[in-house]
Amino acid sequence: MSSVYSMTPSAAPQKSSGPRVFKRLEDWQVCRSALQGSVGFVPTMGALHAGHGSLLERSVAENDYTVLSIYLNPTQFNSPKDLDCYPKTLERDLKMARDIGVDFVITPSYEQMYADGFRYQVDETRFSSELCGEHRPGHFTGVLTVVMKLLNIARADRAYFGEKDYQQYLLIRDMCEAFFMDLEIVPCATVREADGLAMSSRNENLDKAGRAKAGLLNNLIRSTLDDEQVSQALREAGFDVDYIVSREGRRSAAASLVCGDRVVRLLDNVAC
Ligand code: PAF
Repeated sequence: MSSVYSMTPSAAPQKSSGPRVFKRLEDWQVCRSALQGSVGFVPTMGALHAGHGSLLERSVAENDYTVLSIYLNPTQFNSPKDLDCYPKTLERDLKMARDIGVDFVITPSYEQMYADGFRYQVDETRFSSELCGEHRPGHFTGVLTVVMKLLNIARADRAYFGEKDYQQYLLIRDMCEAFFMDLEIVPCATVREADGLAMSSRNENLDKAGRAKAGLLNNLIRSTLDDEQVSQALREAGFDVDYIVSREGRRSAAASLVCGDRVVRLLDNVAC
């Protein structure tokens, strides 16, 4: 990847030359301080797919600069095996960033992100223990803490989050409001495969049989069946169901499939 970049929107980086990649946060901070113009930010854990692509494209269209972070955040994983199995595709991710016209990529280390040893944490005391939080204790504390750190690092005008992780989006939006953070949190529509399966990095871990079944989750939550009937139908198809919950105009779902020695957790939600 080229390291060509410039400090002003009028002399924006040659998109074909690729983003400038920062491993060290100190180097990024120097660059960030010199930028003039609006900054859009897309935080990710890597293994980018078309859903991430849509967030990045929107940011490129709406801002003078787009910053992508790729950081596999261990504090939001409940099990070491789940963290281990998370797909890692850095070269492919950087190619996608280049093709879309991303200006900067930040890939910090754990030592940099958690120099405090995770002593300081952002806790939400109600909604974070419901839905996914009920099944993944501590997950949202890890998410909110790392997102707070990343937003402070990026110093963006806008940050883009996919609606596939709707509970995460709501918690981040409300955290920014609660802490008077001066940026816009932009929700972006879920991107789907042809059979309705919501795009997710974890889909890479589906085997052939799992992939053939996975679209059922979206089909069923869109159906007229009630939540209990949807759970029942999913269980009969071999899913392990965490929850199917309809409330406040949205039906949210989390269910897993066993694929070989991996458990692939699928999330989805639709307006209802
Ligand atoms: O949605 C994700 O990929 C992660 O939860 C995020 C927001 C990048 C924080 O690690």
